Amino acid sequence: MKKSILLSAAILALSACESGDPQLGKASLDKVLNAMTLEEKVHFVIGTGMAGASGESAVVGATKNIVPGAAGTTYPIERLGIPSIVLADGPAGLRIDPTREGDENTYYCTHFPIGTLLSSTWNQELVESVGESMGEEVHEYGADVYLAPALNIHRHPLNGRNFEYYSEDPVVAGKTAAAYVRGVQKNDVGTSVKHFAYNNQETNRTGNNAIISPRAQREIYLKGFEIVVKEAQPWTVMSSYNKINGTYTSQSKDLLTTILREEWGFDGLVMTDWFGGDDGAAQIAAGNDMLQPGTDTQYDQIMAALKDGSLSEAELDICVKRCLELVARSPKAKGYAYTNKPDLKAHAAVTRQSALEGMVLLENNGVLPLKDVKKVAVFGCTSYDFIAGGTGSGNVNRAYTVSLLDGLKNAGFTVDDSKKDVYLKHIADEEAAFKASLSDTYSAFYPTPRPTELVPSAGELAASAKDNDLAIITFGRNSGEFFDRTSADFELSAKERELLNKVTAAFHGRGKKVVVVLNVGGVIETASWKRVPDAILLAWQAGQEGGNSVTDILTGVQSPSGKLPMTFPINLMDAASSKNFPIDTETGVYFTNRRVDVGEKDVDQTNYEEGIYVGYRWFDKQNLPVSYPFGYGLSYTTFEYSLPVVVNDGKKITAMVNVTNKGQVAGKEVVQLYVSAPESTLDKPVKELKAYAKSKELVPGETQTLTFSFPLSELASFDEAASAWKVDAGVYNVLFGASSRDIRCTAEVEVEASETPVHRVLLKQ
Ligand code: BGC
Repeated sequence: MKKSILLSAAILALSACESGDPQLGKASLDKVLNAMTLEEKVHFVIGTGMAGASGESAVVGATKNIVPGAAGTTYPIERLGIPSIVLADGPAGLRIDPTREGDENTYYCTHFPIGTLLSSTWNQELVESVGESMGEEVHEYGADVYLAPALNIHRHPLNGRNFEYYSEDPVVAGKTAAAYVRGVQKNDVGTSVKHFAYNNQETNRTGNNAIISPRAQREIYLKGFEIVVKEAQPWTVMSSYNKINGTYTSQSKDLLTTILREEWGFDGLVMTDWFGGDDGAAQIAAGNDMLQPGTDTQYDQIMAALKDGSLSEAELDICVKRCLELVARSPKAKGYAYTNKPDLKAHAAVTRQSALEGMVLLENNGVLPLKDVKKVAVFGCTSYDFIAGGTGSGNVNRAYTVSLLDGLKNAGFTVDDSKKDVYLKHIADEEAAFKASLSDTYSAFYPTPRPTELVPSAGELAASAKDNDLAIITFGRNSGEFFDRTSADFELSAKERELLNKVTAAFHGRGKKVVVVLNVGGVIETASWKRVPDAILLAWQAGQEGGNSVTDILTGVQSPSGKLPMTFPINLMDAASSKNFPIDTETGVYFTNRRVDVGEKDVDQTNYEEGIYVGYRWFDKQNLPVSYPFGYGLSYTTFEYSLPVVVNDGKKITAMVNVTNKGQVAGKEVVQLYVSAPESTLDKPVKELKAYAKSKELVPGETQTLTFSFPLSELASFDEAASAWKVDAGVYNVLFGASSRDIRCTAEVEVEASETPVHRVLLKQ
């Protein structure tokens, strides 16, 4: 930032009261805008820099001290009564520093379940209530905008940030994000829906050019954002780092103005991702209203463009006005006296409970819920060191994480913890060795590889199988911002396989069962080993109460009701996007985030050749077997579907189906509504998810009628030749599924043709 200008702003502030300058909150925004100098306007659209960032972007002024550890602040102009507002991450909870210099208080935040677990609940009400608790922490810790939710599409299983994102399907992603935004914003704080858009890999994320057809953009990559913008009115949107068809998203007027504002009606503010793009003036011209965290280079670029006329002051004013609107509605501008005391106890209960609904039971031969089990042997380093969530900006500075070991003990099990110290030392040693190997380049933002698995001796296993009623093995996977995962991370390691086989042999030899818990952030290989143990619980990364939540599911406090928001393929290469994804590229790390395009496949340029055939759309089209299909998940009970009804009233489709609990225990069921379109001139997926609903907790024998509704326009596909959304006339098959490959009943509905033209933009070059 230009220090001289800050100083003069401060001096001006002194004379503001006397001169009667218009004040934010008292005068109209236009008056405040008109009172700003050109320099102030340019400062105002860029942030105040970032603490610890190199060189030019060091923080100026005191704003970084408002909420230490927050990601960014806006530029204050005291003479006009414009405060600095605070922007802080998300999405698994608020990310701020837990301690402050010279202050004995602590500022821990609740680590809620990761995004992928929340979407696995298929429960929008629940996600909204989790968002509400998160928003309370944002509000009470003095932040104004929460940099969440993140809803990029799970295009490939190895994207390093999939854990923050929701689904391979845009309807699940969009509806989950909309519920989350509604919940957070109930607290009168803002959200920033990110990363808009096409940010589907971490490798060279700040320079990667995503080459995507307009149809795939509209139907897959933009659709979720369209849903959240239209259904939940987020205060802000964060543009992504990457390029789309040759242009940085943060510099694309097509994306940020034509589509986002003109077509979808977004009326909030767009901010960049941190240091995103390469031309501040182009960002302002595109409608990227705020540049975060803000650099001197951006200031100079905007000033130069204003001088040479390539950017007009009128264009700048549009962005300035939106920044003013954001600041004006913030808690800070309203003088909210935050307490620094959110209800952490209540939120711990929220995270424990919400995690139950997003865990997915993959296998169960009757061992779960546990009966007559008192003594449990736990294996796998991760049982002792549970993973609450991923790393990077999506990490949360929590006060604790409940391990599986502790969760089981809390529930009254006798757990053999004689090896606890050995495990903890082994984990700490390997972590220290990893950090030392990176020496100067190590950052706490990086995911630490999971420790090499420890396999007990034959004698130890025999004794353990004799003494205990049950074995639980936890396999963990860590991932985070800056890195894509590797194919080795997708597979079980040789040691993990050895552990699984040996523990299972020992316990089965004594007629005792083995349960595997997956404490992972994304998809892993399961096909080759899933028949070995007696049950597999996909616990995801369930937040700080993880061990308690897993135990609640194992003991049947609640029947599992989570379902997969993505496909678990048999082989990694089965995914269509594997042809064009940086699998195991050596340059797939932070250090190669480069702006120089040397044309390296999947690093500089990623061609989304698969088009709309992402996830189940691809596996269905190819009729490929999968390990677990999209939408899959078991329960401790069973459900029967009956009497499907589908009605077209000329505007929308309304559908109903009855669900009955046919088992012995209470449970909730997720019903997925897919539509199969009639023959068309356009290539159509076999079926597409259009809506879903989750039942209440049904007691045995109880029936509930679930209702679904969506506008007819949702049946449209995007016709590139006409640049229009087209609904074909004909008979549509409506499928009610317990998963994408378990369709329980169907109904037909006739629909007339319709067409909605849209701008011909974001074309492939
Ligand atoms: C991430 C964003 C995050 C921002 C601020 C970036 O590196 O991509 O998701 O909100 O940093 O911390």
